[in-house]
Amino acid sequence: MSEAEIVLGYVSPSKDILITPDKLQARITEVGRQIETDYAGKELVLVCILKGGVLFLTDLMRAIHIPHAIDFMAVSSYGIGARESTGIVRIIMDLERDIRGKHVLIVEDIIDSGRTLSYICEVLHARGPASLKICTLLDKYERREAEVKLDYVGFRIPNEFVYGYGLDLDELYRNLPFIGVVRD
Ligand code: IMP
Ligand code: MG
Repeated sequence: MSEAEIVLGYVSPSKDILITPDKLQARITEVGRQIETDYAGKELVLVCILKGGVLFLTDLMRAIHIPHAIDFMAVSSYGIGARESTGIVRIIMDLERDIRGKHVLIVEDIIDSGRTLSYICEVLHARGPASLKICTLLDKYERREAEVKLDYVGFRIPNEFVYGYGLDLDELYRNLPFIGVVRD
């Protein structure tokens, strides 16, 4: 990894920007509009997967102009410092509210192998929601191993390790307003 450099006024580990702040915001506005049309009149709950999904959630919910609830779930699928999911997913923090009969939309940062999401879907499906759909900001589609149906996708991206806008490099750089790429 190159040395941290200043990009757009933030300290960033590289200068390679995959998705600029403007492109992120424009696409999130579009996705939000689609969601508000699809869920009009329904009891919608956005379930944000911590920690990576948190910046996406806060922008997405402001782009959804219909009443909706939010809830959070934290899972871990990587070992400390690792960059591949192990396939063994642990729930670290569960939802606060019951989702039975609710229209649940999972809000994720990125789908890579799909293992994490397929596990979460299994767990949430068993709780009897009226519907269960997935909204992900990024889809690293070339890496898919577990089958997951993505209902809303912000951007399809190539198989590269990305950071920023919620996604971390060893827990850092989640604050960056763009999606950067690690190129060694
Ligand atoms: P999956 O189970 O392989 O689909 O992994 C999904 C999780 O791994 C995501 O929710 C992210 O937290 C993390 N992840 C996957 N790819 C990246 C990446 O390129 N940068 C940062 N985190 C990633
Ligand atoms: Mg995640």
